[in-house]
Amino acid sequence: MALENIPDSVASAELPETSTIITATGSEWWRSAVIYQIYPRSFADSDGNGVGDLPGITHRLPALAELGVDAIWLSPFFKSPQKDAGYDVSDYCDVDPLFGTLNDFDKLLETAHGLGLKVIADMVPNHTSDQHEWFQAALAAPEGSPERDRYMFRDGKGPKGDIMPNNWESVFGGPMWERIINPDGTPGQWYLHIFDKSQPDLNWENPWVREKFFDILRFWLDRGVDGFRVDVAHGMIKEAGLPDYTPPEEGASMGGPVGSDVIHGITDPESIPDPPYWGQPGVHDIWRGWHTVLAEYEGDRVLCAEAWVDPLSKVALWVRPDEMSQAFNFAYMFAAWKAKPLRRVIKESIEAFSAVGAPSTWVLSNHDVVRHASRLALTKDSPQGAGIGPKTHGKPDPVLGLRRARAATSLMLALPGSSYLYQGEELGLPEDMELPDNARQDPTWFRTNGEKYGRDGCRVPIPWEADKPSYGFNRSGKSWLPQPQDWAPYARDAQEGVPGSTLELYKSALALRSQHRLGTGSLEWLHDYGKKVVAFRNGDVTVITNLGKVAVELPVGDILLSSEPIVGGALPTDTTVWIRS
Ligand code: BGC
Repeated sequence: MALENIPDSVASAELPETSTIITATGSEWWRSAVIYQIYPRSFADSDGNGVGDLPGITHRLPALAELGVDAIWLSPFFKSPQKDAGYDVSDYCDVDPLFGTLNDFDKLLETAHGLGLKVIADMVPNHTSDQHEWFQAALAAPEGSPERDRYMFRDGKGPKGDIMPNNWESVFGGPMWERIINPDGTPGQWYLHIFDKSQPDLNWENPWVREKFFDILRFWLDRGVDGFRVDVAHGMIKEAGLPDYTPPEEGASMGGPVGSDVIHGITDPESIPDPPYWGQPGVHDIWRGWHTVLAEYEGDRVLCAEAWVDPLSKVALWVRPDEMSQAFNFAYMFAAWKAKPLRRVIKESIEAFSAVGAPSTWVLSNHDVVRHASRLALTKDSPQGAGIGPKTHGKPDPVLGLRRARAATSLMLALPGSSYLYQGEELGLPEDMELPDNARQDPTWFRTNGEKYGRDGCRVPIPWEADKPSYGFNRSGKSWLPQPQDWAPYARDAQEGVPGSTLELYKSALALRSQHRLGTGSLEWLHDYGKKVVAFRNGDVTVITNLGKVAVELPVGDILLSSEPIVGGALPTDTTVWIRS
């Protein structure tokens, strides 16, 4: 595709749902891959200290190969003071001793590759830890020095410089600025931190920063990683002059108004300007540079953007042919569990990404949001990062939540493009809503004085063996976040080989997806099943999800997969079926 033909804004026309929508094609593995997110702290703990580690992951990799995924994405395992669970990096080219060593990483990579799994690392370029040597050097250096210019230092306002440079609010709550104390003990400049004060933002206008990250990328590419998930890929350039900004609602958030209002068409995302720290056009130049570095390497290395911008046609700008490969589809993640918004977001996603030659991605859970086995049964909106906990009103019904989650995943895995799974969702894990206050670790909880629970509820170590200490997470029974007492039925060994278990549903879906090449297919909408369904054909498979209250009569054909038992040829509510057509 000629680059000059791709406009800066890719309009998504309102087409009738009768059309077939074609996904962009290409031979790269990531276009149709199912990528499994490992949150290293909570996956498997080999040394029993209560925090997961790289040898633990390596030991459990065969279970993922057996599950049928194509790749793993590892949340950060780099050296870090762990103020934001590793998203505060103090050395990008080393492994934190909590997780192991570089040697352990090499073993993990070799084992994964031996099992046919690609490995994606998580790069965190928007900010470093305040313990990073670059930031320590900036603190020690005078105002206006090259060391200070690697970060976003500004003078305060007012005669004493004690008023913050602007009114921006941190995503984790509280102001986005922290004042430093100079080496001589006097109050100094302020630095910007979109997240916690221990995560100072880098100055990406500075070529020195850009060059350093090229080296970091090459360090991991040389070791053999298959690509990077890129943290906060929409935040690295700030609007010139850092103008004041007050978010329209809900306080600061990860980005634009992703969510049901946009999907329902209540809010027109085009009408809402991007905050001066999200989605600035200057970020694209950074991705063009990264693209060039990855292109130096063989084997289709992937870049996946975490870019919370709206609408989808704007997200697509991150994946133009000379930028990144994929971007997370948060509009899909937050679509209401209703037929019309789901059909709409699916259509808009494929169209928007296809327009730039990229595959759509699909995702329902990750380490920042309420697990979808709980979220899909929430009776009230829960904005990203707010979390749910003991005092949440309208707690989700776990039975309904799991039923919907199974239907939602079965729908997602039938869509053309690439899908992301989050560890534990294949077990049907719900959000842990009963974590005690004194166990919480998310900076959101602390920076909002407990007003927001934050994200700990989706980060609890996952259960492997029902009857073992800490459900087989380790042998010591320790766990950095306490595991609920009632998780034995979710354990992998309790579900293995059990017909109808969530684990077996995932395994069947992944095997059939690969067998019927659904990831590289296209989508033809079907209209014979009423308005309360999402129904389409992908290749030789008819997929129907019933979101209405009335059972839907099924067409004749072999049932390949169903998220709940089918009795008497009718599809019950909150159920997805795949039929060979
Ligand atoms: C990561 C979060 C993290 C934040 C700051 C995100 O988007 O996914 O877990 O807290 O970036 O690095």
